[in-house]
Amino acid sequence: MSNLFYLGRQAILALLCIGFFAATVPAFAGDGASGDMATVYSDRGVASCMKCHDTAIVKNGRIYKSAMDFFQTPHAVKGDPRSPFAQHECEACHGPSQNHVQSTPGPNGIKALPAVVFSGPNASPVAERNKVCLGCHQNGLRMDWAGSQHQSADLACVSCHTIHVKKDPILVKATQPEKCFSCHAEQRALTLQYSHHPVREGKVVCSDCHNPHGSPGPKLLKEVRVTDLCYSCHADKRGPMLWEHQPVREDCTNCHNPHGSVNPRLLKEKVPFLCFDCHAATNDMGGVGVSKQSVAAHSGSMYLYGDRSCLNCHSQIHGSNSPSGSTFFR
Ligand code: HEC
Ligand code: HEC
Ligand code: HEC
Ligand code: HEC
Ligand code: HEC
Ligand code: HEC
Ligand code: HEC
Ligand code: HEC
Ligand code: HEC
Ligand code: HEC
Repeated sequence: MSNLFYLGRQAILALLCIGFFAATVPAFAGDGASGDMATVYSDRGVASCMKCHDTAIVKNGRIYKSAMDFFQTPHAVKGDPRSPFAQHECEACHGPSQNHVQSTPGPNGIKALPAVVFSGPNASPVAERNKVCLGCHQNGLRMDWAGSQHQSADLACVSCHTIHVKKDPILVKATQPEKCFSCHAEQRALTLQYSHHPVREGKVVCSDCHNPHGSPGPKLLKEVRVTDLCYSCHADKRGPMLWEHQPVREDCTNCHNPHGSVNPRLLKEKVPFLCFDCHAATNDMGGVGVSKQSVAAHSGSMYLYGDRSCLNCHSQIHGSNSPSGSTFFR
């Protein structure tokens, strides 16, 4: 232990000699005396911290919240050997911070920073912050974090997570979407549409369909195939069915917008226009077409109009087991 300390001290003294710290860590400059404490854990752990952080601190127009709430959080479980509180307590996350504990405010009135700061203008680089969290949370949901959309966009774990609270709002159905919407305005707008998954109603959350930490599939989806994702809640659409409608088996988003739509049933377009994207109104218009034989069936007002238009007859649009044939009748 004392050997390690000695080595750390040598290394840091060497750096001080070449002026490294003075140049890159301004907070250090006003605090030369304890500069060699930068990689050392405080002698009394959480007790050191709570000498000052048992109340809020107001300084230079900033309010630093009291850390008292921390003792109510899932990270303060002393009896769990995996917990920060069974390790270096506060410094399991904020890093070795004897320097911060012992320093006196420099010329700017600010103390030397703790080794890792997670929020605010002095926040440490994202990679450094995330390394702390991943040190204990590498696996499980975070198997695909590296290279994921959110990792590539340089999000910090704490862009979504709040740690100094009893219950992290991103883990609560009612409050999760608000956090996601703060960056995803388009999805906010969609969930306000007439037809939407009941996200605002707190019955479905973004993380029912997405793994925000990364996924092997597209768009951070929890399943590689969209259909498998949808079947997980809409099991009746899975089949197998005697007569399959090809676009349904391919991808539900051929016809539905999962977040919301101005049309009923999350449909991307109103029927019959939705159908006309793939089935031309008449054969001459190309596409899959409606065959000559069925022209008779497709005349009259029920064809285009009426409440349900095409669905008046082709009511089993997701596929059917009807003995009457392949055209999705009941
Ligand atoms: C002697 C009083 C004192 C002790 C002991 C102390 N702090 Fe602080 N801490 C402060 C003050 C004052 C600030 C407000 C900013 C400043 O002056 O640097 C602060 C700020 C912080 C910040 C926010 C930094 C920022 O710029 O956003 C963190 C994080 C922090 N302390 C963690 C800790 C931890 C962890 C410990 C225990 C290892 C600890 N503090 C011990 C006084 C203290
Ligand atoms: C599990 C990691 C972790 C542990 C353990 C931890 N913190 Fe923090 N701390 C954070 C994160 C992340 C933030 C950013 C705000 C948030 O998410 O709540 C933070 C913010 C702070 C701040 C700045 C508050 C502000 O309003 O700017 C202080 C001060 C602080 N922590 C002190 C402590 C003290 C004292 C302890 C021990 C009682 C402690 N922390 C334990 C992760 C941790
Ligand atoms: C020293 C190890 C350690 C570190 C560092 C750590 N955690 Fe944890 N974390 C835990 C343990 C242990 C639990 C409790 C897990 C359980 O009960 O299964 C936990 C729980 C959580 C939970 C679930 C909380 C709940 O209410 O269920 C979240 C979210 C979390 N950590 C995020 C983070 C983030 C973000 C960071 C970085 C700021 C971080 N953790 C740093 C060990 C750690
Ligand atoms: C884009 C937002 C976002 C980011 C960034 C993010 N998380 Fe999460 N995290 C969530 C959501 C949402 C949940 C709830 C997931 C669920 O219930 O399926 C969660 C759950 C968790 C949990 C508790 C569930 C479990 O896995 O045990 C831990 C721990 C966690 N995240 C750690 C991290 C760490 C570490 C990072 C950074 C590498 C991180 N998160 C980055 C949104 C995020
Ligand atoms: C701090 C901002 C921020 C927060 C909070 C956030 N995201 Fe993101 N998200 C981004 C950025 C930036 C990207 C990458 C650029 C893009 O595709 O928009 C992204 C990408 C995504 C993607 C992939 C888009 C694609 O085209 O592949 C999904 C899905 C997503 N976020 C869902 C979520 C969910 C769900 C939450 C809440 C649990 C969330 N995000 C919270 C910023 C954020
Ligand atoms: C019912 C499942 C489901 C829910 C709930 C859900 N999504 Fe999605 N999301 C999808 C699917 C499927 C896609 C890919 C197809 C698409 O873009 O329409 C997607 C795509 C996205 C994208 C990429 C959009 C693009 O244009 O490429 C973002 C960002 C996103 N979702 C964010 C969110 C956020 C934020 C929430 C919570 C408010 C949320 N999602 C809830 C299923 C869902
Ligand atoms: C986590 C479960 C879940 C997943 C996954 C899910 N849904 Fe839903 N879906 C629901 C719930 C809950 C409702 C509302 C049912 C109600 O109100 O009776 C719903 C309703 C719908 C509706 C009817 C909306 C309306 O306005 O009547 C459609 C269409 C739909 N989902 C399509 C999809 C598609 C497409 C996917 C895959 C991208 C999907 N769902 C994935 C839970 C889910
Ligand atoms: C070819 C277009 C199309 C595709 C692809 C499609 N749907 Fe639909 N879906 C519709 C239409 C049209 C309605 C409205 C039916 C009605 O009002 O009777 C609908 C309604 C729904 C509903 C609400 C009413 C009900 O039947 O429960 C759900 C849920 C749904 N679809 C889920 C899915 C899922 C899951 C998939 C993918 C496996 C999917 N849809 C693929 C066209 C489609
Ligand atoms: C994304 C493209 C797409 C959309 C949208 C679509 N379909 Fe289809 N549909 C197909 C394909 C592809 C087939 C299979 C054609 C084949 O086997 O020749 C098919 C087959 C059919 C069949 C059976 C044809 C047969 O010969 O058995 C009917 C009926 C049908 N669709 C009706 C509809 C109706 C009604 C709608 C609107 C609610 C619709 N489709 C929307 C692509 C689509
Ligand atoms: C009044 C009932 C009725 C309505 C409304 C209707 N259909 Fe049909 N449709 C039929 C019948 C009956 C057949 C079978 C004809 C046959 O097998 O000879 C058929 C067959 C089809 C076929 C497959 C055979 C072919 O000709 O390729 C498609 C595709 C189709 N309809 C699309 C549509 C679309 C799109 C709409 C709405 C614009 C629609 N139908 C409205 C009764 C209807």
